Amino acid sequence: MNETEKKEVALLRNKIHRHDHLYYVKDSPEVSDRDYDALYHRLKELESKYPECVTADSPTQRVGGKVDERFRKVVHPVPMLSLDNTFNVDEVRAFHQRVVKALPDVEETSIEYVVELKFDGLAVALTYEDGKLVRGATRGDGVQGEDVTANLKTIRSIPLEISAEPFKKIEVRGEVYMPRKEFQRLNILREEAGESPFANPRNAAAGALRVLDPAVTDSRKLGVFIYSVGFWDNNICETHSELQRKLASLRFPVNEHNRRCSNFEETLASIEEWRTKKNDLDYEVDGLVIQLNSLAYRKKIGSTSKFPRWAVAYKYEAEQAETEVLEIVCQVGRTGSITPVANLEPVFVSGSTVSRATLHNEDEIRKKDIRVGDRVVIEKAGEIIPKVVRVVDPKGKRNAEFKMPTLCPECQTKIFRSEGEAAWRCVNAACPAQLKERLKHFASRKAMDIDHMGPAVIDQLVESGRVKNFSDLYTLKQKEVADLERLAEKSAKNLIDAIEKSKSAGLARLLFGLGVRHVGQRAASILAETFRSITALKETSFEDMESVMEIGPVIAESLKSFLDQNTNVQDIENLSNSGVVMECLGEARKERGGVTGKQFVLTGTLSLFTRDEAKEKIESLGGRVTSAVSTKTDYIVAGKDAGSKLAKAKKLEVTVLDEKEFQKLIEGV
Ligand code: IVH
Repeated sequence: MNETEKKEVALLRNKIHRHDHLYYVKDSPEVSDRDYDALYHRLKELESKYPECVTADSPTQRVGGKVDERFRKVVHPVPMLSLDNTFNVDEVRAFHQRVVKALPDVEETSIEYVVELKFDGLAVALTYEDGKLVRGATRGDGVQGEDVTANLKTIRSIPLEISAEPFKKIEVRGEVYMPRKEFQRLNILREEAGESPFANPRNAAAGALRVLDPAVTDSRKLGVFIYSVGFWDNNICETHSELQRKLASLRFPVNEHNRRCSNFEETLASIEEWRTKKNDLDYEVDGLVIQLNSLAYRKKIGSTSKFPRWAVAYKYEAEQAETEVLEIVCQVGRTGSITPVANLEPVFVSGSTVSRATLHNEDEIRKKDIRVGDRVVIEKAGEIIPKVVRVVDPKGKRNAEFKMPTLCPECQTKIFRSEGEAAWRCVNAACPAQLKERLKHFASRKAMDIDHMGPAVIDQLVESGRVKNFSDLYTLKQKEVADLERLAEKSAKNLIDAIEKSKSAGLARLLFGLGVRHVGQRAASILAETFRSITALKETSFEDMESVMEIGPVIAESLKSFLDQNTNVQDIENLSNSGVVMECLGEARKERGGVTGKQFVLTGTLSLFTRDEAKEKIESLGGRVTSAVSTKTDYIVAGKDAGSKLAKAKKLEVTVLDEKEFQKLIEGV
């Protein structure tokens, strides 16, 4: 490569970085897409001619890195705390009073706050060394996250390089989000491909970031707002707003609505201002973040182990809207339970259109006296399915009271309600609606994890009569699947491949996927680890099964009767003949003196393990973790800053272990 070409490469990279910033951060492109593409292609051309000149921060390298298998764990040099929540103005005032009290030498009127939108996505930390992005990690549990550098690099608004001045080393923090439009587009595509839609943009963004193939992240059009700094080597700002200006000048995407409030009353005005305005944004916002502007005051006030004392989140109440009940229909679940659902006149709430709401059960409808034709108030809180809060002014002439059907709406079998149960049930094991729900559960992530088998595909498999039980899935041919309506050749192949792959999911997932009543994920893995194979489970006596720690008579009874039923015996045999693994893949359940059968409580900040790791370890050795300390607690593991639980444990004379002692116990040394 000659000098002129070298210069050209450097110039092209600069220009592309600049245009990425103008387009993705400033929203004000200066060149047409075509001109941008020309620059990009020229750079690609030079880089493929001289591969030795390709650098990790070249704009062509945004997609192409590799994410380590199962993501490397990253311990955050400075923990990523979360925020205490407030839900009304009185709580915000109380926060302000605490701040005033903690700063006795400061005039109340000179306390400034910054109010920011609280983006509903997931927090990330980006580390830059000598101006280069060297690492991007998720927040995880705040102490430890996951290295997702290659995926984060695909987000165009994240600069791959920044000026190496004034910070040689800096970690910035922000929130990755999925714009509403992109979320809608993605869900339409997923439904078309027969996959289940994401419940909310936050889940969709997290899913897009935690994939092993950066090309998938790239295709999801994520955005990011940088809101703070984890650490820096050059502490040059006095206030948060100054710091944010600095970050913006380094080309980080800082949100345009951040507002410096010169007194507390202004923060309260912001709360009112954004209550409805937040719904006009292109991204989901679930509240505001209110924080002290002065960095020196922040230092003075400090943090608890979980939250800074100098900031709070204000969470907006679930939004309500009024609409009309058009009809009440009944849905049949996996176990035959029948749930009434209201079809509503579509209404726009918290950024999306709602046309259905769950009514839970017959008693609930009666209690609220909800009838077809009524005007009702509905409420949507985060990802939770909207619910009907109350009927508006239920006077005048109304339709008749809602009556539960006497027959299953799907298979017309008589339905029953047992003593003490809220739900009516269809007890016909061959009911197609139940079969569809059972298949959905069987294919779900935590069960057999069959991709490409969403509700639309399942409906067709069942309605065409091709799939009548779990084992029928494993005899499907690609041609048959491709003949289903609206399923392209490629999707058919993907589905068949995914079904094939699920054969080796192992006994724990299979047991969970079979959907036996009371056998949840945890019971399924305990049973699998203890008994090792489906044959052994069948041969085990009820007494031996129920005496396993955490299993007990209800689960044992339910599983035994499931495994005795002829139709299930046949289905399991067919699954086995198709090559579905019937053995436990994980390690055998180990017994360890001092852990097996003991109850643990974890408290304080652990540094050698994450909470989940410690829990997993204890459970794998047959111990149990509970959250509250009681006389039944055998051990309390106390990390840093352990508080009231530790005090209570001492009072009850529970054995206290520090982390090192705990490590010794579980490692058996
Ligand atoms: S500042 C000490 N600013 O909210 C934590 N957080 O509950 C300071 N979040 O984990 C965080 N938008 O994921 C801050 N403008 C914003 C935010 C924001 C969303 C999230 C963040 C954090 C959680 C805290």
